[in-house]
Amino acid sequence: MKHLLKLQDLTREEILSILNLADQLKFERVNGIQKDYLKGKKLGMIFQKASTRTRVSFETGIYELGGYGLFLSSADLQIGRGEPVQDTARVLSRYLDGIMIRTFEQKEVEDLAKYGTIPVINGLTDYAHPCQVLADLMTIREYKGSFKGLKMTYIGDGNNMANSLIVGAIKLGMSFAIACPKGYEPDKDIIKWAKENGNITVTESIEEAIKDADVVYTDVWASMGMEKEKQAREKIFKDYQVNSKNLAKAKSDVMVMHCLPAHRGEEITDEVFEAHAKEIFDEAENRLHAQKAVMVKLLK
Ligand code: CP
Ligand code: NVA
Repeated sequence: MKHLLKLQDLTREEILSILNLADQLKFERVNGIQKDYLKGKKLGMIFQKASTRTRVSFETGIYELGGYGLFLSSADLQIGRGEPVQDTARVLSRYLDGIMIRTFEQKEVEDLAKYGTIPVINGLTDYAHPCQVLADLMTIREYKGSFKGLKMTYIGDGNNMANSLIVGAIKLGMSFAIACPKGYEPDKDIIKWAKENGNITVTESIEEAIKDADVVYTDVWASMGMEKEKQAREKIFKDYQVNSKNLAKAKSDVMVMHCLPAHRGEEITDEVFEAHAKEIFDEAENRLHAQKAVMVKLLK
């Protein structure tokens, strides 16, 4: 494993190995064991979109590993003024030991990896959010013990989160169901791959998708970069909400997950969110541990 660009690039064994290391790093942190796995290593963090969790977990994560993180806002970088990604990649490779990037197009992340000579980590694109899903899988295993035979249900937009969750769930042996409005399905190639490699249901019916679910996941109706569509999407997605009525059809010990930030009253009710806040904030915490594991694997 040279980069983390999307989960499709990782084998099931590589994913499990990251999760195992993440568990170990969490244990060490909880028990006050500090080890400089990445002493003196420098991670550049390019942000073309806003972030709370990704920025803070990467920055504190590299610090806890003995390294140093540089926050690079695209507003201040020449990349924001049109310097080609090919050149940015080659320049940053001369200074840094790794790059984390959050941007719009997946191609930009792939190009950084192609033209640079250091590991690249995808911190979210319009297509994928692999770091989030590694933390999600870690959290599911903490709560459920294993993955095999679990049913994961996603309610809402077939966006970057849905794309990466499908790949992660199928690779680890979970079945996946998504309820979304027609025309808002996840990436076609990912669905095709999932059908060939596991069990996936894509439906407009929330009832069908949520029936007997072990894990229910949701995300915002309008992702970053879709601000102009926000009002139209509020109408299109209004029924695609995780609420107590829908959730009653899932298993009684269902976990509810959200990558955050959440819009209460839209994709999830305040009641359900607060009833499952423990899972949701454990999930947010696990970003730190999962990404520390990714950095150790890639930068050491
Ligand atoms: N879930 C997630 O990536 O959060 P941020 O946008 O705050 O980084
Ligand atoms: N789908 C959301 C996820 C945020 C973490 C977005 O792209 O804005």
